[in-house]
Amino acid sequence: MVEFPKKKEHFELSCFACKQKYEIDDYGKFYHCTRCGNLLEIKRVKNYFGGSKTRLGVWKYVDVIPIWDDRNIVSLSEGWTSLVECQNVAKILGLKSLHVKFEGLNPTGSFKDRGMTVGVSKAIEQGYKSTMCASTGNTSASLGAYSSRAGIRCMVLIPKGKIALGKIAQAIAYGAEIYQVEGNFDDSLRVASEICEKDNKILLLNSLNPFRIEGQKTVAFEMAEQLGRAPDYVVLPVGNGGNISAAWKGFKELFEDGFASIPSRKSLPKMIGIQAEGAAPIARAFIAGKRDSIEPVVDPHTDASAINIGSPVSWMKALAAIYDSGGSADYVSDEEIFTAQKLLASKEGLFVEPASAAPIAYLTKIARAGKSDEYEQMKGSIVVSICTGNGLKDPNALLKGVTPDQLQTISADAKSLQKILA
Ligand code: F0G
Repeated sequence: MVEFPKKKEHFELSCFACKQKYEIDDYGKFYHCTRCGNLLEIKRVKNYFGGSKTRLGVWKYVDVIPIWDDRNIVSLSEGWTSLVECQNVAKILGLKSLHVKFEGLNPTGSFKDRGMTVGVSKAIEQGYKSTMCASTGNTSASLGAYSSRAGIRCMVLIPKGKIALGKIAQAIAYGAEIYQVEGNFDDSLRVASEICEKDNKILLLNSLNPFRIEGQKTVAFEMAEQLGRAPDYVVLPVGNGGNISAAWKGFKELFEDGFASIPSRKSLPKMIGIQAEGAAPIARAFIAGKRDSIEPVVDPHTDASAINIGSPVSWMKALAAIYDSGGSADYVSDEEIFTAQKLLASKEGLFVEPASAAPIAYLTKIARAGKSDEYEQMKGSIVVSICTGNGLKDPNALLKGVTPDQLQTISADAKSLQKILA
């Protein structure tokens, strides 16, 4: 394996749209391209794929993550989550091969930890003492955890009354300052962005932060290692669009670096982004054949609260991932989401949060509909569903649908139970 000493010159910060270049360590003085206003991204100028032999998870790939001094790393051993083969559900859906990448096994129970370990490490490297995010729940839990570990102040803005119980409990436990915004997630992000743009001492850590994307891209490296190749399809829930663009970036880097099992661009997976019907601006743009714009949803609604987002900031990167990979996007109803959540738990023992069941809901939907080109191709392919968050975070959403026969009360003697069991 070639030695690849990590150097600042091996990375580049530039605008995703107009390609304007910036000094990478200036990130935080501005959050968007100062020329055209679009999102920024980090690129590697030199290629390399190897990985540390002594670490597992996100920091195994320390050489391709833009942190200059390893002593700044703030880690909770995130990543290296299970890739679980789901033969029972695959059979029901008529698929040859279905795996779940269970991101709910991360330290705070969601994929956000992959990004936050890098985002907060960068905050430390740049000398920040305060972090902020807007969140539908998981980002706030994750930022709270990593900020507390780093010993810095953390402020989170959440839409009042629209966050799952477990996620609020996490943010409180980690000691984050919590501000409940009278509005939705999009309002919360608008306020957080305005504050951080004015106050250069507070670092904004939403997924528009390209350092977070550098952490989240490692999910692709892991999938390729766990399967010994890239999947044919990767299906995942989409809110702001950060995660789908991160996973696609990871796969592209694997290919560019000559990872042995990805011999050609054609062996890269098709990325399929799934949204909830009441909050689906990216899916609707794709269905309408649009690549260069979306129509934000003014009053988004879904009980999959994690993806209740009407104005996704990373829509441009998300659509690029979908189109460039030859993938697609679609939406599913809340009913389909909750049915899929129960299916995965009852047939595979995997309890994921509602948003994370959206990909399984989509696979169920196209399997039921039968003869689409996509389903026909998927049937014989290797499909991976990224299940982004743990079901334990949102017990209320599940308990809402519980019937009395699922929770029977019995007197404390075996005879009365015997009667019921008979
Ligand atoms: N799944 C879960 C469980 C999430 O929490 C999120 C986003 C997504 C999927 C969508 O990811 O935004 O990168 O497209 N949650 C953010 C939050 C918005 O604040 O926790 P995305």
